[in-house]
Amino acid sequence: MSKKIYLYGNWKMNNTYSETEKFFEEFEGAYAPFKGDANLEVGIFAPFTSLWPLSQGAKKNGIVFGAQNVYYEPKGAFTGEISIPMLKEYDVTHIILGHSERRHIFGESDELIAKKVKAVLDAGIIPVFCYGETLEERETGNTFTVMERQVRAAIDGLTPAEVKKVIYAYEPVWAIGTGKTATPDQAEEVCGWSRKLIGQPEAVILYGGSVKGSNAKELLSMKDIDGALVGGASLKPGSFLEIYGAYKG
Ligand code: PGA
Repeated sequence: MSKKIYLYGNWKMNNTYSETEKFFEEFEGAYAPFKGDANLEVGIFAPFTSLWPLSQGAKKNGIVFGAQNVYYEPKGAFTGEISIPMLKEYDVTHIILGHSERRHIFGESDELIAKKVKAVLDAGIIPVFCYGETLEERETGNTFTVMERQVRAAIDGLTPAEVKKVIYAYEPVWAIGTGKTATPDQAEEVCGWSRKLIGQPEAVILYGGSVKGSNAKELLSMKDIDGALVGGASLKPGSFLEIYGAYKG
């Protein structure tokens, strides 16, 4: 039996409201060959301002969808932030948390991310929790120390059932948006190690970092890689779904 593949697209700060509507005009055709495939789960994560057309397009096509960040307090004096109840009104199913761009550009700490993970789980939404090392951390031999700190901070306060609900995305910072992909062996090494650290053999663990049609088959065929979190290649339906097409061969 072939494994289930999670193909998640992180649009980052791309695709306006009208561009999202346009995306879904094209999506239906590109998705048609795979629709109904029980071994594929497609998800898209859009900017807050595109959540309405995303929710409409996602529901129509039967895919999961969500936001790329959220604040953990339900409401109050937090200028510029978006709360979980606000996102719930859009029926989001998942929320990306701890993406390396949030960590490194916006200074999000392990502690803040852990609070977000817990609050999202409490609201019945699935966190897509990202973690990964920088090039410097890898080159100085600190890959596993850094990742252990990041992952433990997020899961230590959770029950085993909650730990299992989280979707994990290993994204080496040096491979994001750089065109440099981790080799399948490098990605598999970390995803396998993560599975042991998480302590849940059935945890869903994705790899992210320059995934595209041309490298998808090798990466997604690895035993401990359950899918991909895709940035650049997820912006167009063709290049996004081509990733699953390449895996299926
Ligand atoms: P990329 O981004 O596919 O453009 O490298 C991946 C991510 O940051 O989630």
